[in-house]
Amino acid sequence: MSFRHELVEKNVGLLAILIVIAISLGALVEITPLIYQEQTTEPVENLRPYTALEMEGRDIYIREGCNVCHSQMIRPFRSETERYGHYSVAGESVWEHPFLWGSKRTGPDLARVGGRYSDEWHRVHLRNPRDVVPESNMPGFPWLEENVLDGEITSKKLALFRDKFGVPYTDEQVAKAGDDVKGKTEMDALIAYLQSLGHAMK
Ligand code: HEC
Repeated sequence: MSFRHELVEKNVGLLAILIVIAISLGALVEITPLIYQEQTTEPVENLRPYTALEMEGRDIYIREGCNVCHSQMIRPFRSETERYGHYSVAGESVWEHPFLWGSKRTGPDLARVGGRYSDEWHRVHLRNPRDVVPESNMPGFPWLEENVLDGEITSKKLALFRDKFGVPYTDEQVAKAGDDVKGKTEMDALIAYLQSLGHAMK
């Protein structure tokens, strides 16, 4: 053993100081670039903002507590990716406020459910899940078909996401958001939202 090595091993104070220096250097290398970065996570290439109808659907999803039984977070394990598709990546969620990743799975993960079923399947399923999945213990949500959207605050919602969270909505999209959803049912909005899930990573 070299003399210098022995010196460090036998002198706890010196060893502690050298450890602190080593860790500080590592931290500096990791942290400094982050300070100069505008955003740590960039949107994935095909990510598009929710349409006005999807945005309303997302709020209904939260109101009805769908996220209490369904996660939207596919973990990077073979058992998950074979069932649900590509694992979730951070760049898909940059415009999600609040995010709905969750971990409780009474029902399946919904992160990539968009396009898996027809709109009509969702309509029947949401009205009464047992009509399509006999063993289902998911509750029905029949009132969604009766509640009609008036679109009164939809523009405000889009404007908020643009101004506070940097979601790239155009002025035109914000201006006509109310008209886009007016007269549609909550069921239409929720299904539009479900069909959009996972669009960026298809
Ligand atoms: C009490 C728990 C519970 C709640 C609340 C719940 N679900 Fe479910 N969900 C389930 C279960 C269990 C299944 C699996 C059986 C089935 O397909 O019905 C399921 C299945 C689904 C599926 C099919 C997924 C697939 O890949 O086959 C969709 C879509 C879905 N739920 C949407 C919703 C939406 C939207 C809401 C809110 C309006 C909701 N769920 C609320 C438990 C729940």
